[in-house]
Amino acid sequence: MKLRIEPVTGALSGSLRPPGDKSISHRAAIFGGLARGQTHVTGFLLAEDTLATLNAMAALGARVDREGDRVTIDGRPLKAPAQALDLGNSGTGIRLIAGALAGHPDLYGQRLQLIGDRSLSVRPMMRIIKPLSAMGARIEGTDGHAPLNLVAARLAPIRLELPVASAQVKSAILLAALNADGVTEVAEPGISRDHTERLLPAFGVRLERAEGVVRMTGPQTLSGSGVSVPGDLSSAAFMIAAAALVPGSKVEIRDVGVNPTRDGFLRILQHMGGQISRVDMAGSAGSEPVATLTVEGGAGLRGFDIPADWVPLAIDEFPVIMALAAVAGGTTVISGAAELRVKESDRLAVMTRQLRHLGVAVDETPDGAVIHGGRVRGGEVESEGDHRIAMSLAVLALVAEQPVIIDGAEWIRTSYPGFVDDLNSLGAGLQWQ
Ligand code: S3P
Repeated sequence: MKLRIEPVTGALSGSLRPPGDKSISHRAAIFGGLARGQTHVTGFLLAEDTLATLNAMAALGARVDREGDRVTIDGRPLKAPAQALDLGNSGTGIRLIAGALAGHPDLYGQRLQLIGDRSLSVRPMMRIIKPLSAMGARIEGTDGHAPLNLVAARLAPIRLELPVASAQVKSAILLAALNADGVTEVAEPGISRDHTERLLPAFGVRLERAEGVVRMTGPQTLSGSGVSVPGDLSSAAFMIAAAALVPGSKVEIRDVGVNPTRDGFLRILQHMGGQISRVDMAGSAGSEPVATLTVEGGAGLRGFDIPADWVPLAIDEFPVIMALAAVAGGTTVISGAAELRVKESDRLAVMTRQLRHLGVAVDETPDGAVIHGGRVRGGEVESEGDHRIAMSLAVLALVAEQPVIIDGAEWIRTSYPGFVDDLNSLGAGLQWQ
C-alpha cells in the first residue's frame, strides 16, 4: 500500500501516549506462557510482531484471553503444536522462544519448528544456535537461518561472552538457563536493553547482575505476575522526530518508557540541538522507568559524529536518526553500526538508497553512513519491507519540498498500526492511497 505525505504547512501540536513497548510486550507474552498461574498484562502492544508471539504461546498450550490491550495469560504445561510456530517478522519472538523451548522439561524429546517471513528467514540465527548447542540443545537452522528445527533436550549451564551486545541473544540464553542445572553467566561487550533482567524477577526468577555480566542458577520456574507495559520509546521516536523537525511545534509524549539501556535516541537528538524536556513519573510501570516528554520544534538541528558506544543504546532508532541527519546542518557520521545490516532489512543500505531518491547526499560505509544534511526533494520511495524505514521516511516527508509517496507502507503494522492516525492527530496530513 502507498502512503502519500504532503509537506506540512503549520506546526505540529498535541499530546499522545505511544503504543505499548514492543520488547516488553514480547517478554510479557513469553514469560506469561511459561509461568504457572495467571499473568495479567495491561498496555500490551497490539501489532503483528507481538500478536505473533502471543499466538505462538497459545499454540504451545497457554490460555490467552484478550480484551483490547489487556491480556490474561494462563500458563499451562507446554505441548508441542502440530504445526510450525510462525513468528512472522519478529527476531525477538523467534530468538527468545527458541531459547525458552530448547531445554523445557515439558517438551523433552519433542520436535518443534519455528518459522518466519522472508525477512526473518534471512536474519542470522547462528548467534543463538551456537551457544544453545554448547548448552546441549538439539537445534538446527537452515544455512544458519530460520526455519529452526529443535528437539527439546536436557541442557547444561554455560559461561558465554557475547561477541556483540544483543538483548535477543542474551535473553535467549537466560531463558534456556532457566532449565539448565547450575550457574549460567552471560557477559556482554556493551550495554543492551535489560528488559529481561528487569521483568524475570517479577515472575519469581532470581538472577544477579554485575559489571556487564548476568548470572542465573537453574533450574527455576516462573509464577504468573502482573505486567504494566509502558509506551514504546522506539515508536515515540517518530513523533518526537516529527515535532523536532517542524518549526514551532510542541508535542507531549505521555507514559513512555525511558529505560537507560535504550534511551540513546533522546541523547542523540539533544546533541543535534533538539529541544526535549522530561518529567519522570513516580511509581513507574514495574521496574521500568517511565516519563512524560515535551518536544519543541524548529531549533535548527546540526549533525555530529555519533560515538560508536552510543549505537546499542539507540539501535532501532538509526533509520529515523538518518532521516533527521538528512535535514540537519553539516555532516552526521554513524560508525560501529554494522548490526543495522541484520535488522528487518539492511538498514544502512536501504536508508542510503531511499534518502538518495529524495536527493539527500549519503555515503554508505561498511559499519555506518555519512549524511550531508541539506534540502529534501519529494518523490517516490519504498519501505523495502521494513516498518521503521517506512515511518522514518514519512516523518522526513513532512519537511520535504514536494509530496512524498511511500510504497510498501503497510509494513508499519509490524510495530505501530496507529502511526498514521497518531501523526495526523498532531496536524500532519498523511493519506493512504
Ligand atoms: C530487541 C533487541 C534488539 C532490537 C530489537 C528488539 C529485544 O535486537 O534491535 O528490535 O527486544 O531484545 P538485538 O538483540 O539483535 O540487538
